[in-house]
Amino acid sequence: MPAMAIVGLQWGDEGKGKITDYLSEIADCVVRFQGGANAGHTVDLGRKTLKFHQIPSCALHKGVTAVIANGVALDPDELIREMRTLREKGFPVTKLAVSNRAHLVMPYHKELDGLEEAFKGAGAVGTTRKGIGPCYADKASRIGFRAGDLLDVASLTERVETAIRFKKAYASALNGALQSDVQGIMKKLHHWSGVLSSHITDTSSLVNGFISRGKSVIFEGAHGLMLDIDHGNYPFVTSSNIMTGNVYAGSGLNPQVRVKTLGILKAYATRVGAGPFPTELDDEVGEHLALKGMEIGTTTGRKRRCGWLDLFAARYAVQLSGARQVAITKLDVLSGLEKLRVATGYTYGGKRLKDYPPSVGVLNGVVPVYREFRGWSDQLDEDITRWSELPDAAKRYISFIEDFLGVEAKMISVGPSRKKTIIRGKLAP
Ligand code: IMP
Repeated sequence: MPAMAIVGLQWGDEGKGKITDYLSEIADCVVRFQGGANAGHTVDLGRKTLKFHQIPSCALHKGVTAVIANGVALDPDELIREMRTLREKGFPVTKLAVSNRAHLVMPYHKELDGLEEAFKGAGAVGTTRKGIGPCYADKASRIGFRAGDLLDVASLTERVETAIRFKKAYASALNGALQSDVQGIMKKLHHWSGVLSSHITDTSSLVNGFISRGKSVIFEGAHGLMLDIDHGNYPFVTSSNIMTGNVYAGSGLNPQVRVKTLGILKAYATRVGAGPFPTELDDEVGEHLALKGMEIGTTTGRKRRCGWLDLFAARYAVQLSGARQVAITKLDVLSGLEKLRVATGYTYGGKRLKDYPPSVGVLNGVVPVYREFRGWSDQLDEDITRWSELPDAAKRYISFIEDFLGVEAKMISVGPSRKKTIIRGKLAP
């Protein structure tokens, strides 16, 4: 497994954290290559539950190097808080490298995220308000600050003054008043520099070095492919590319290196924030999924919307991710439902659609075509560790997913803890 990307195939919250943690046991380095503190990955250790936002979910494995690469929108305040929380819980992050090219989420980015959302009114995206969109916008506008800038804060005054001028004008155009000022930002930059400088380095060289020494590197995606800025349900998306292709741009990995993808697919669907969700359930089944699946956002505490598994969307995500192997998560949550459904296509205006539609207008008007399955009543809460121990109905459900998507379900998760994981053969290198 020299280079593997772990990529969510839905709208995020597929359970990537658990899978990354599980596979970190055999990794030397785990890299975050996009997104930022908007992500939330949960790792359940039985007596303790840890939540990761920017630090890769490998931090519990002491020998593994955790990398925050250049493609991340890095929030230093959140990173410092996350490092402190992990230390207090008994897991100090000892091997953390932060790219000198990662863009910084500044306090005014968070302010503007809120002001933009309020300004959009009914058209709001429902962002996490972590300043992700405004940070990436500044990166593209070439007025951003990067982690490497923290190594020479004294030289930044003029750039900060310009940025604040820009942002004050923008905030007032959005009917707001910017709280951030030059003095406050300079103070923050000095603070971040003091705490983080020793971690800041050229992570592209670091990651390529691991690969050339034959070490194993995992690229941990944040979010899910349907939130990809190009291929997701635009504009109800996040502000980065989530697809495997962005591993190269987001980490500076040598493109000669072949990256295998492990797609992560939850056994049903969830979505946080606004945007189309054709298989959404607003009934007692949706309630069952929300309650049993504990579908509350890790980052924002918002209730996640729940629905049937959408294989039409997932097939599009599989194509974009290149996944031939998947991990199916939260299968146990379906236990107790008499009937299960999966969407295998959509009709729009009475016609069956061939391709996954790019338009939110169309997505809001589609009618899913469902395939129905018998459910199972077994709770799967004994320590099921083998495929053969699953109820036949669960096996049929998974086999259908595999056939429909053209993938192998190599891992099946039947509970939050590490031991509730069924492994079906080795991941192909
Ligand atoms: P942003 O990434 O905070 O700008 O939010 C854009 C959209 O992506 C919103 O609908 C968020 O709810 C969603 N989103 C961002 N990160 C995650 C995540 O980790 N899980 C699920 N949804 C997310």
